[in-house]
Amino acid sequence: MRQPVIAIDGPAGAGKSTVAKLVAKALGYRYLDTGALYRAVAWKAIRNGLRPQDTHYIVDMTRHTRVELVQSDGEQRVLVDGEDVTEAIRAPEVGNLASPISAVPEVREVLLEWQREFGRQGATVAEGRDTGTVVFPDAAVKVFLTASLDERARRRHRELLERGIDIPFQQVKVDIEARDQRDSSRHVAPLRPAPDAVLIDTNNKTPDEVVEEVLKICRARFTSEATPST
Ligand code: DC
Repeated sequence: MRQPVIAIDGPAGAGKSTVAKLVAKALGYRYLDTGALYRAVAWKAIRNGLRPQDTHYIVDMTRHTRVELVQSDGEQRVLVDGEDVTEAIRAPEVGNLASPISAVPEVREVLLEWQREFGRQGATVAEGRDTGTVVFPDAAVKVFLTASLDERARRRHRELLERGIDIPFQQVKVDIEARDQRDSSRHVAPLRPAPDAVLIDTNNKTPDEVVEEVLKICRARFTSEATPST
């Protein structure tokens, strides 16, 4: 039987991770952080001294990499070839390299299979950039979160400070803007809402309010599926 998927996409800092984790918890679904997979590949590329232009090596490296998302004490840990990189992949330089790497079609192809395999193993809340458009086009519910650039930069800045990473706000803003521009203009699977996605503007909303909106959409969808049409 096909397992239900809730796809939550949007640009950096739109609140996807916070919301997706809470929705997964509320529904008892598994949580798939697709960005973590791109970050894991970028982390290994940095470890191997590769640069964005070393496309051939990056593709080969990706095909020979094992990334695991494992649940531990209610938290998701990210393992690359058995090494725990959960914290390391959140470094800004990893995010900055993940973006050009994610524009390489062969890398996306490998990660597409990882993501679909995850989805086959159980009901999933997936968050990323193309989970509703490419990875899970048949997702039961598709949501696209947005927020203004300033608000997204503020959130990312705060998140980095909480991790002990102190980067000037303007730098965070410039990085996010450049990343969104690259993610939206790339050839393969660009960042854009699926035609059947529900757009939610998260400006001036608490995570709980956004989660409630998403759960409402899920309830409406699941109820209508359970009700036979006359
Ligand atoms: O969501 P994030 O910041 O962890 O994502 C890191 C990068 O990975 C982001 O710049 C674009 C890329 N990405 C992607 O191309 N497709 C996804 N489904 C998820 C992330």
